[in-house]
Amino acid sequence: MNPINIDTSPGTDYQSVLEEIADEIGALPGRGRSADYIPALACADPRSFGMALADVDGNVHGVGEWRTPFSTQSITKVFTLALVLARDGADLWEHVGREPSGNPFNSLVQLEYEHGIPRNPFINAGALVVTDRLQSLTGDASEDLLAFLRTESGNPDIGFDLEVAASESAHGDRNAALAHFMASYGNIRHPVPTLLDHYFRQCSIEMSCADLALATGFLARHGLLADGSRLLSRSEAKQINAVMMTCGTYDAAGNFAYRVGLPGKSGVGGGIVAVVPGRCTLCVWSPGLDERGNSVAGVAALDRFTTLTGLSVF
Ligand code: DON
Repeated sequence: MNPINIDTSPGTDYQSVLEEIADEIGALPGRGRSADYIPALACADPRSFGMALADVDGNVHGVGEWRTPFSTQSITKVFTLALVLARDGADLWEHVGREPSGNPFNSLVQLEYEHGIPRNPFINAGALVVTDRLQSLTGDASEDLLAFLRTESGNPDIGFDLEVAASESAHGDRNAALAHFMASYGNIRHPVPTLLDHYFRQCSIEMSCADLALATGFLARHGLLADGSRLLSRSEAKQINAVMMTCGTYDAAGNFAYRVGLPGKSGVGGGIVAVVPGRCTLCVWSPGLDERGNSVAGVAALDRFTTLTGLSVF
């Protein structure tokens, strides 16, 4: 028997589902607080909301502010990881782990007793290792990432927000400490200021929900890019999805898996991407964050999506 609200057919009316979710989110009482550690993020309205879905053929549906660019922040860690794995294969995993940290995304605490090897590529320490590696492989990590995102989203207007990058840099002592500490273990190869410059530019990239849903499509297509060429093996795409599921929302990853049941990656700009392998990708944006740095309305919207459609990996 198929319960009435579980749609297992290929013809799900995604637009109607998104509209129903937007209506429900409109009535959500608490929205959390916008990130306040840099002024450019603090002025975002916690009540803004947008959501987009891209199917594996590149058809996009959206509601609310789904075409409004926002600060992608840590969501970009998914793409740098994919770009490094595509070129470098498993070598990366000698330098960064694949376990949830159970700690805040900017924590230093595990690095000393784990000898400068970060727990996973989605906490800041791990992302710095990945960007450092991408710099070695490309000579210009942030431009390489930007070119990839423009191509996969089909939007040539995507760019850095240099004001956000400068603001990150001005408040970047914690990330600098992480990078210097790992450099002392030989796990960072480039000068720390060069690495931080690329990392802050990476985090400052502005994209809309539609752009991000499309750019994440290779993870739903088992490693195939929008033009049908292969970026990752099927196995590598599975691995990234698995690390997103276990580590993509930091010390809230268990609760995200429980509520949403999809691989997901959040950023402090209020965005979250999620993947339904073989089917579609989602991006939701609402700048109000919970105490772990994840969008309150974003998690609620993804929770409703998988509940209404039955589209989860479980
Ligand atoms: O490294 C930082 O602090 C930011 N540029 C990115 C943080 C972030 O998005 C973590 N996510 N929830």
